[in-house]
Amino acid sequence: MSKKILVIGSANMDLSMNMYKLPEAGQTLIDDGGVAYLPGGKGANAAIAFSRLGAECVFSAKLGADLHGQRLYQYYKEQGLNTAYVKVDKENPTGIAVVLKESDGNNRIIVYPGANAHLSADNIAEALDCNPDAVYLGFEVPFAVAVNAARMASARGIPVFIDAAPADKEHALENLPYVEIFSPNETETKEYTGILPQGADSSLRAALSLYKRVKCRYLVIKQGERGAFVYDGRHYRFVPAMRAGNTLDTTAAGDAFTAAMTLRYLECGDIITAVKYGVAAGAIAVTRRGASSSIPTAAEVEALLAGGNV
Ligand code: RIB
Repeated sequence: MSKKILVIGSANMDLSMNMYKLPEAGQTLIDDGGVAYLPGGKGANAAIAFSRLGAECVFSAKLGADLHGQRLYQYYKEQGLNTAYVKVDKENPTGIAVVLKESDGNNRIIVYPGANAHLSADNIAEALDCNPDAVYLGFEVPFAVAVNAARMASARGIPVFIDAAPADKEHALENLPYVEIFSPNETETKEYTGILPQGADSSLRAALSLYKRVKCRYLVIKQGERGAFVYDGRHYRFVPAMRAGNTLDTTAAGDAFTAAMTLRYLECGDIITAVKYGVAAGAIAVTRRGASSSIPTAAEVEALLAGGNV
């Protein structure tokens, strides 16, 4: 039977621009590398990943009463999300992310949160009535709201999974309840610990520092093209990255990774199998343009893991 996941998180319209190079301060650049409005938001990207990978996904989010909100709502329906808890905020616009994508596929993102900043504890309490098998959270909604959501889920005995993005060193991670998996990327880990995890030694130091603050079963530090570092409080293991083709766009690869890992973990209970599945999902996502649009299906992930063509 498929797992029911409640994703509590952000919904953005991404203004995605391909840049040959980024402007200096005070500089204007003209770059006709391409521009598009594409569905994004870390929460929505994860929700779509769950749906494409075969889960039943309920999405709790807030959109503005505007054209971006209408387009996103329609897109979520087409992608098979349960939108019963996607609320419309009449006062605030839909979140917007400006995604500046450089020619090597890496990106820099600035988010205007808009309606995402107004997702409330009441909205989440209502959504929890869907009786999910797990709750998946990120920090593109206000941190206090995310902590409260995690506590409400935990009090109901629902396992909580956190994609710790975006990070802010002011986040009181100690306030989170016990979570199954807490997963930041390298930059987020540096923001939280002051240590950039690059290699076994710095990854372990960062993991030890984070593990003191976050009550979790597993810490999984995403390290992009190198892979992922897994720590359970006693042992660590590094799962190397995979390649599915040329890197075109890294946007949402981390969202695909964490959602895929979460789902596989719920299905099999084995963290390393789950991380490998996440690595494969992320590897495919970077070969495709856009955020939600880059996320693979379960058949594609399984084909890559089996050594075949995606
Ligand atoms: O993780 C990628 C996402 O971050 C983008 O889709 C953008 O909306 C920002 O939330």
